[in-house]
Amino acid sequence: RMAMKKKLWGGRFSKRTDPFVEHYTSSIGVDYRLARHDVAGSIAHAKMLGRCGIIPQADSRRIVRGLTRMLRLLAQGRWQIDPASEDIHTEVQQTLERLIGPAARKLHTARSRNDQVSLDLRLYCREAVAELSAAIRELQRVLVRFAAAHRKAVIPGYTHLQRAQPVLLAHHLLAYVEMLERDRERLQDARKRIDILPLGAGALAGTSLAIDRRFVAKRLGFPRVAENSIDAVSDRDFALELLSALAILGVHLSRLGEDGVLWATEEFGILALDDAVATGSSLMPQKKNPDVFELVRGQAGIVIGELTALLTVLKGLPLSYNRDMQWDKRCVFGAVEASHDALVVLAQVLRHARVRTERLPALLASDALCATDLAEYLVERGAAFADAHGLVGRVVAYAEQRGKRLRDLSVEELRRFSGRFDRTALARLDPARSVERKRSLGSTSPAEVARALARWRKRLR
Ligand code: ARG
Repeated sequence: RMAMKKKLWGGRFSKRTDPFVEHYTSSIGVDYRLARHDVAGSIAHAKMLGRCGIIPQADSRRIVRGLTRMLRLLAQGRWQIDPASEDIHTEVQQTLERLIGPAARKLHTARSRNDQVSLDLRLYCREAVAELSAAIRELQRVLVRFAAAHRKAVIPGYTHLQRAQPVLLAHHLLAYVEMLERDRERLQDARKRIDILPLGAGALAGTSLAIDRRFVAKRLGFPRVAENSIDAVSDRDFALELLSALAILGVHLSRLGEDGVLWATEEFGILALDDAVATGSSLMPQKKNPDVFELVRGQAGIVIGELTALLTVLKGLPLSYNRDMQWDKRCVFGAVEASHDALVVLAQVLRHARVRTERLPALLASDALCATDLAEYLVERGAAFADAHGLVGRVVAYAEQRGKRLRDLSVEELRRFSGRFDRTALARLDPARSVERKRSLGSTSPAEVARALARWRKRLR
């Protein structure tokens, strides 16, 4: 265990902290990720303190210069964050003292780590929203490109994982683009409640010093200031909202992962993965596994877990700040990093996936995928849909009993079920025609899919 450094507190203590307690309570191993944000918040705070005459302008300027230098050192990898600091706030304070001397001790005026840590986490979340939104956009672009490259391919669409109706592969892929768009919207919406300035709440009660919170908010690009100092240090709704949005995103990505796993099987045989993004088996020499899809499918469990963990940590906490809340960062960082990696890796895999177009006719050959088209054919000729449904059901059973496909039935056989059938009926059993005959808005018809592709291309430009 490392020797601990000076703390931001201790005046009233007559004993050293027990080393294991020190180790247990420290958070630097997690919150070092907030370094940039802690410094940015501190710069705004120091400027405000100088402007309001709470500390001398010269000290304010010295502090800002020191902090700015720390940002540079951090970017250059020359600020070695000391793992013996209690937390990132202590580390920033002590590094600043080393750089500029005693003036640094005026920075932590009218501020507590309680409002400070909430600010830092909000700045982190704001950046995470921007980065995750960009990663979502990129995955959408890859999906749209992939869809456009296979705009003609028809596959069996599934419900209950049973072959249901023919659909365009592009239509299936664009479903994910829609899902991801809602994810992005949820992230953007969460930003409204991330961008609220908690700083100036102090520990919980505000301060007797004449600070200017609106100035700090403006400098940090927050449109709003938390209106109640107790709420300001207690509130982690912004983190919960971010993690909720990420949990839903995770569920979406896990479904994409599952489709990827299925499509890459020999049984489905729709997708061929590039060697660069597939993995092998240590025992079976022939194996080529879709591990990325599986890891992404599983990772949703991790993100949902982080959301559940944070909800559980916060549940029943008395107002205002409680140290329990230190665990919030583990949950937020874990969920954000996992989500980001999943988005990036899926885009990478899909950029290098190939549709096994030569296999598609076989997938469409052997079943009654177009039975619904036959029922709609009867509806066009005046049948009630419920009657047509029952009738075509009997046709399907008849064909099945004889080991025939629907399209192998003769018109004479069909006419035994209904006089409404004529030879144009059999044409409805072609999967490509089935797709082409779709008329409704948002359907899998080539015209609707082309319209969707054009709309997405424009929006994603
Ligand atoms: N490391 C703490 C956290 O993450 C910072 C706030 C600590 N405040 C306190 N009064 N001990 O929540």
